[in-house]
Amino acid sequence: MRRLATFWNQIRYSIYTPIYDWIAGGFYPQRGRSIAQIRAGNSAKILIVGAGTGLDLNHLRGYSNITAVDITPSMLYLLKKRAKSLNLQLDARVMDGQQLQFGDNSFDVIVLHLILAVIPDPVACIKEAERVAKPGGELVVFDKFLEDGKRASWLRRIVNAPILLLATSINRRMEDLLAHTQLRKTNDEPAGFGGLFRILHLQKP
Ligand SMILES: C[S@@+](CC[C@H](N)C(=O)[O-])C[C@H]1O[C@@H](n2cnc3c(N)ncnc32)[C@H](O)[C@@H]1O
Repeated sequence: MRRLATFWNQIRYSIYTPIYDWIAGGFYPQRGRSIAQIRAGNSAKILIVGAGTGLDLNHLRGYSNITAVDITPSMLYLLKKRAKSLNLQLDARVMDGQQLQFGDNSFDVIVLHLILAVIPDPVACIKEAERVAKPGGELVVFDKFLEDGKRASWLRRIVNAPILLLATSINRRMEDLLAHTQLRKTNDEPAGFGGLFRILHLQKP
């Protein structure tokens, strides 16, 4: 099931690639706020999981050691073009965020923007992000979440099915994901649409 859903993500994002920036470009301020949470200095080793067309790169211009992974080659093609136009050197690779091909404790910062609500197995994704983060490393998250402690209404559950197929889940709770990790939540703030979108800062002990 996970393999099929991952393949479907690859297909649909290949179709969305030409219009993706038009859809997601409006989140410029939220990306800026999320990345501003990073405490590590400019030489930090940064990993962007599900990096898409690289809309975060505008906010990462000061950083010199960036790796970007995504399951969809066409999204990464546009990311590489953007990196070139911004004069940013980076390592971009096609890779599944549920099974990262990096060693333990490899990165100072992991950027998880609009991926935990999209990826078929968000628990695997956040556990992989935790694994590859160095001790004391940071995870910055911007995404849609159901409020902690809240249950999705019937209507929300029904609506979630078609939205998930075409776009994203709106019913994942950060507390459920964090329960599978040792990560500490050091910031959690609303980021639009009545608190549906949130910005978080997490730290690996
Ligand atoms: C909503 S877009 C977010 C892109 C980017 N992070 C942003 O903030 O604009 C989701 C991205 O996740 C990628 N993706 C989906 N499933 C993935 C997986 N299993 N592993 C890695 N990337 C995946 C898609 O190809 C797409 O580029």
